[in-house]
Amino acid sequence: MLNVTKMYVALFLLLQTVLGANILHIAPIGTQSHHIWNRALAFGLSKKGHNVTMLSHFEEKEKFKNFHIILLEGYFDETIEYFSLDSVQPNKFLDVMIIYDLSLFSCEHDLATQGLQTLMNYPKDFTFDLIIIDITLQQCLYPIIERFKNPPVVAVTPFLLPPVLSHLFGNPLQAAYMPYYNTLHTDRMSFLERITNYLLIHSEILYRKYMAIPAESKLAKKHFGENIQSFDEVERNISILISNYDPILCFPLALPPNIIPAGGLHIESDKPLPDDLNTIVDHAKEGLIIFTLGSYLRSDQMSISKRTAILNAFAKLPQTIFWKFESEIDDLPKNVIVRKWLPQNDILENSKTKLLISHGGALSTQEAMYHGIPVIAIPFNTDQHSNAGKLASRSMGKILNYEDITTDSLYSAITEILNNPMYSRNIKQLLQRYKDKPERPLNTAVFWVEYVLRHGSANFLNLASRDMDTYQAASYDVILALLMGLYLLYSLISFIFTSYKFICISHNIPLDHSKRL
Ligand SMILES: *[C@@H]1O[C@H](CO)[C@@H](O)[C@H](O)[C@H]1NC(C)=O
Ligand SMILES: *[C@@H]1O[C@H](CO)[C@@H](O)[C@H](O)[C@H]1NC(C)=O
Repeated sequence: MLNVTKMYVALFLLLQTVLGANILHIAPIGTQSHHIWNRALAFGLSKKGHNVTMLSHFEEKEKFKNFHIILLEGYFDETIEYFSLDSVQPNKFLDVMIIYDLSLFSCEHDLATQGLQTLMNYPKDFTFDLIIIDITLQQCLYPIIERFKNPPVVAVTPFLLPPVLSHLFGNPLQAAYMPYYNTLHTDRMSFLERITNYLLIHSEILYRKYMAIPAESKLAKKHFGENIQSFDEVERNISILISNYDPILCFPLALPPNIIPAGGLHIESDKPLPDDLNTIVDHAKEGLIIFTLGSYLRSDQMSISKRTAILNAFAKLPQTIFWKFESEIDDLPKNVIVRKWLPQNDILENSKTKLLISHGGALSTQEAMYHGIPVIAIPFNTDQHSNAGKLASRSMGKILNYEDITTDSLYSAITEILNNPMYSRNIKQLLQRYKDKPERPLNTAVFWVEYVLRHGSANFLNLASRDMDTYQAASYDVILALLMGLYLLYSLISFIFTSYKFICISHNIPLDHSKRL
C-alpha cells in the first residue's frame, strides 16, 4: 500500500516537471529554414505549457504566452556572402568547408552580442529543466549548457540528417545507400558513385573532427575561458537527436533508437492567405506557379540577361507566377507578381497551384511534397543537390542547372511538367504515404522532448557503437584480422605445396598423380 502511495507521489512530481518545464532552446543558425523549423518545435512545446526561451537571430513582432526570444542582434546587418548566385562551388569537398566557415563567421558574431550576455547574466540560481540545441553548426555555443549546470540536452537538426550528426549518435555510416547531401546521388548508386559518396562522408567527418571543432573550441575558449568542458564530452552527453528526416520524404535509412525522425514537423495547413494575395489567386484562372530561390540566394543578384530570359519564359505561359524577388522589376509581364516575401507553404496549399520552381531547399521540397506539387529544382549548394536528385529520380520534378537556364530550357521544363500528369501523380502518391502515420511529426518531437524530461536522459537508448571508434563500429579491425588470417593460411598452403614439389623433384617422383593411376 505504501509503495503504491510512493509511486503516486513520484508520478505526481514527474507530471509537474513535465507539465510546465523551463526550456532553453538554442537555435543560432541564421537561415530562414532552420528558424522556421526550430520555431515550430518551440511553439509546439509552449502550447503544451512549457516555458520556452529561444536564443535566435530572428525577431518576433508579436508577444506569445510561454515563448520568449533572446535576440542575437545585428546578424543580418553584416553582409553574409557565403551563398550567392555566383558562388556556386563545383567542388563537392570545398562546398562542405564553406558551411563550416559560415559557422565560424556566425560564432564570431554571436559571441559578441548583447543577447548572449543577457542569457549569461541570468541569476546564478536560475535553472532550465532542459536545453534544446540545434547542433547542425555553431558548436561554439556549447558552454551555455555548462553555464546552466548541465541539464538534460536534446539535439535537433532541421538539416535533414547529415551523416556526421547521425554518426555522432552512434549510427553506423550507411555510405553505400545514404546519398551524401551535396550530390545528386540516390540510394541506388553505381560503384563509382559509392566511392565518391564514401569519400565525401568520411572527409566531412574528419574535417569536422580535426579542423572545424577545434576552431570552434578555440573561439569558445577565448570567450568563455580555457576551462570549458571538452566538446566531445558535451556531445557524448546529449540524449537524443530529433531530426528533420522522414523515410518517405528522404530515402529510407536505418536509425538507432536515439535518433527521432520528425521530418516536416514545421508544415502547417489551413492558414488563410493575406487579402492582397487572395485576390490575385482568385483571378488566376489558369493556375499558379511559384518561383523562389529561398532566403539566402537573392534573385535580384541575377544578371539582367538571366532575369530577362526567365521573364520571357514566364510571359509565354497562361498561368499566374509568384516570384520571390527582393526588389522591384520594371516592365513585368502581366502574369508575373513579384513580392519580397511569400507565404510559400500557404500558396502551395491552394488547389490552383501547379508547380514550384525553387532552389531545392529542404523545407521547400518538403512543403511541395506535403501538398503534392511537382518541382523544378535549380540546386546551388549543400542538400539542395540531393533534394533535387530525389525529385528527379522519382519523376516528381526536374532538375535545371542555373547555368543552363534560357527562355527555351525553362519554358520547355515548365510545359513538360504541366502537360505530363505523371509528375503530379507521383508526388501526390508520395504525399498520401507521408501523411499516413500514427501522429503528426510535431507531436512526435514534443513527445520525445518530454520523454527526456521525464527520464532525465536517454543514455539507455544508445547503440554501444556511440562509445566505439569508427573502425571498431564498422568492424574494420575484424575484417583486417580475417584478411591477415587468410593471407597466413594461403602462405602456409603454398609453403607446403612448394616443399612437396621440391621433395618430388629431388626424389624423381612424377608430380602428376593421374598419369600414374
Ligand atoms: C520563462 O522564461 C522567461 C525568459 O527566459 C523567464 O524570465 C521566466 O522566469 C520563465 N518563467 C518561469 C516560470 O520559469
Ligand atoms: C551529463 O548529463 C547529466 C544528466 O543530464 C548531468 O548530470 C551531467 O553533469 C552531464 N555531464 C557532463 C560532463 O556534461
